[in-house]
Amino acid sequence: MPEMGIYEAMRTLRAVRRLRPDPIPDDVLQRVLEAATWAPTGGNAQPWRIIVVKDRALKEPLGKLYNERWSAYTKQRPIPANAPTDVRARAERTFAAGDYLGAHFGETPVVAVFCFNPKNMAITDAKQDRVSVVGGGSVYTAVENLLLACRAEGLGCVLTTLLCECEPEVRKLLAIPDPWYTAAAIPIGYPVGRGHGALIRRPIEQSSRPVNPSATSITSPRSLSISP
Ligand SMILES: Cc1cc2nc3c(=O)[nH]c(=O)nc-3n(C[C@H](O)[C@H](O)[C@H](O)COP(=O)(O)O)c2cc1C
Repeated sequence: MPEMGIYEAMRTLRAVRRLRPDPIPDDVLQRVLEAATWAPTGGNAQPWRIIVVKDRALKEPLGKLYNERWSAYTKQRPIPANAPTDVRARAERTFAAGDYLGAHFGETPVVAVFCFNPKNMAITDAKQDRVSVVGGGSVYTAVENLLLACRAEGLGCVLTTLLCECEPEVRKLLAIPDPWYTAAAIPIGYPVGRGHGALIRRPIEQSSRPVNPSATSITSPRSLSISP
């Protein structure tokens, strides 16, 4: 496969939830896993590990847990009755793809479970009176590298975190020792359909509203991106 440009990979890296059960060649899998290791992490500590789950005896119960969480998630978030037609259609497509993933999770050839060790993280916002996010920055950089590498290899994948809701069961199932916890599970496989493609995202003009009205440049260090 010819090399794909980084911008093209980023521009088309969308969540692919319908994955074929066909195996992923070892050399391809090796390359996407290695790409994860190139990510920056705080103090270069690389406080994460990947459990590459291929064994059906593990993927099936993992899939059962995932499907339970997915069903609960969709029940809690019904599509609003007054949603515009295009928004409704998009949400219905996403939910249908999510249902497919839930039902077929155990058949996915590889599930990459990202684990992290909080003892190896410099969590510089841990004492702030708000939810802490800095620690995740030393894990999700690696996750994104893996997703982009999958995209470049023509593999479908989706970053999922619903299994974190039942982390104790997942840790038991995968025999994850203390002090390791779970950050994401990425089902990976060749797409059933077209797979990756154009994204729907907020444009940069709307993602760069400056807090300080006098700081209008999106590149100014004094401007901050905030979302309503
Ligand atoms: C932190 C995070 C958690 C996510 N968790 C899940 C998940 O558990 N299940 C799922 O199907 N998608 C999950 N996603 C995928 C998002 O729903 C998806 O990236 C988003 O809707 C945009 O879709 P698109 O990339 O296809 O445009 C997650 C994404 C992120 C960044």
